[in-house]
Amino acid sequence: MTNRRAFIAGLAGLPFATGPLAAIAQESVRALAMPPLLDATRDRHFRLTAQKGKTDFTGLGGGETWGFNQSFLGPTLRLPAGASTQAQIDNTLSEKISVHWHGMLIPGEVDGGPHQTIEPGTTWSPELDLTQPPATLWYHSHVHGDTGRQVQRGLAGVIHVDDGRDDARGLPISYGVDDLTLVLQDRRFDRQGRIDYGLSMPDQMMGFMGNVILVNGQLGTQAVVPRGIVRLRLLNGSNARIYPLSFSDRREMHLIATDSGYLNQPVAIESLVIAPGERYEVLVDFSGGEAGTLVSSANPNQMMGGMMGGASTAGGSFVVLPFGVDVRLPARILEIPADLGGVLPDSEARSVNTRQITLDMPMGMGMMMRRSNDRFAINGQSFDMGRIDLSLSKGATEIWQVSSNMMMHPFHVHGVRFQVLAENGKKPSIQNSGWKDTVLVNGRVDILVSFEQTADRANPFMYHCHILEHEDGGMMAQFTVT
Ligand code: C2O
Ligand code: CU
Ligand code: CU
Repeated sequence: MTNRRAFIAGLAGLPFATGPLAAIAQESVRALAMPPLLDATRDRHFRLTAQKGKTDFTGLGGGETWGFNQSFLGPTLRLPAGASTQAQIDNTLSEKISVHWHGMLIPGEVDGGPHQTIEPGTTWSPELDLTQPPATLWYHSHVHGDTGRQVQRGLAGVIHVDDGRDDARGLPISYGVDDLTLVLQDRRFDRQGRIDYGLSMPDQMMGFMGNVILVNGQLGTQAVVPRGIVRLRLLNGSNARIYPLSFSDRREMHLIATDSGYLNQPVAIESLVIAPGERYEVLVDFSGGEAGTLVSSANPNQMMGGMMGGASTAGGSFVVLPFGVDVRLPARILEIPADLGGVLPDSEARSVNTRQITLDMPMGMGMMMRRSNDRFAINGQSFDMGRIDLSLSKGATEIWQVSSNMMMHPFHVHGVRFQVLAENGKKPSIQNSGWKDTVLVNGRVDILVSFEQTADRANPFMYHCHILEHEDGGMMAQFTVT
């Protein structure tokens, strides 16, 4: 099957696919574009302008979208590891936003969470002092109660923390050629091709699920890659959709990095489940010259247990992104490197405090009536900006036993990277064996986390479910580190 036909078949296989999709499927497949690269490794300064624009995703007209320095989404920021970078964010929108640096190990005052909003017409200039190893991170708005809507509109982008040594590691480094940044997001469009973020009752409960997949804000594209090893930096920037990814020909992906950086060596895998907020980097071998298609299972519901076992679930699969090989592109890397030099977390037991965290779903219809005791919550309490849920001391190490309720929840903690100790009492899966800042909880996950960055009462860190409708609904809490 050609890529184009695979793509169209994929669209047709999407759950709830309706009218406008038929028109989209008629179009020919265009080459995928990367987000513009904003390289701050020399200047150590960058500027983002949150702005309004218009985007026609479907060819049906389109409507207002938001972005940074462009009409939808933002540039990929390349920031130096082991150095400090001055950021400047101008908000030209007519409502307050924030810019959270998801995965950065920096203090609470510059974290960009709900306490650091940027009012319309104002500028925020945090200094980002990165002492962490190279990793793929991201940035997005984080205004309490509005994160889901603002991210749908486009307030998100990718960050590459770079130490200049990827070449020595034998990794692809040519942005958009053999080093691809892929932002996966689902959306729904109305008949004019405008983003439709109307939340139905199931969306309010389960989180927003679109019926088409955008990659880097584009619909119906194909990645064109050289005949060699290609690096994919995957970000799930969707509000709620979980993607069990694999190639349709089951070709191997070599996992090289999890959320917070490199593994010590690549691990070959056939499938990878990526939940909202998570990043994974994989190498894929195109040296044989054969086209490939990245697909996802169409998990129509994400109830607990529904996706155990990875990429094979009922509901069929849909195309995320077809890949074509162009022999004219320079193939610089022809072998999977043996060693990445990542320092994995050490699993030695330490004397630590253990804490239970439960991610609570509303018990019933009370949620719709906004009964405060019947909403999304953590440990029984719905998020309150004015309440500090935990006070920790700097340098403390703890085990958090995180339990999910009714459905799977991607659990994220600000200002840290953590180690997964166990998933439902068992050794963590390969994809959870490296440093993480977000982990999909399907039952119980135990994490070991040290708190090195400070956060005061005025600028606490968040921990929350990264299904944005759950987060906005109150499945979030906050802590200080002093
Ligand atoms: Cu990516 Cu608190 O968020
Ligand atoms: Cu975060
Ligand atoms: Cu959740």
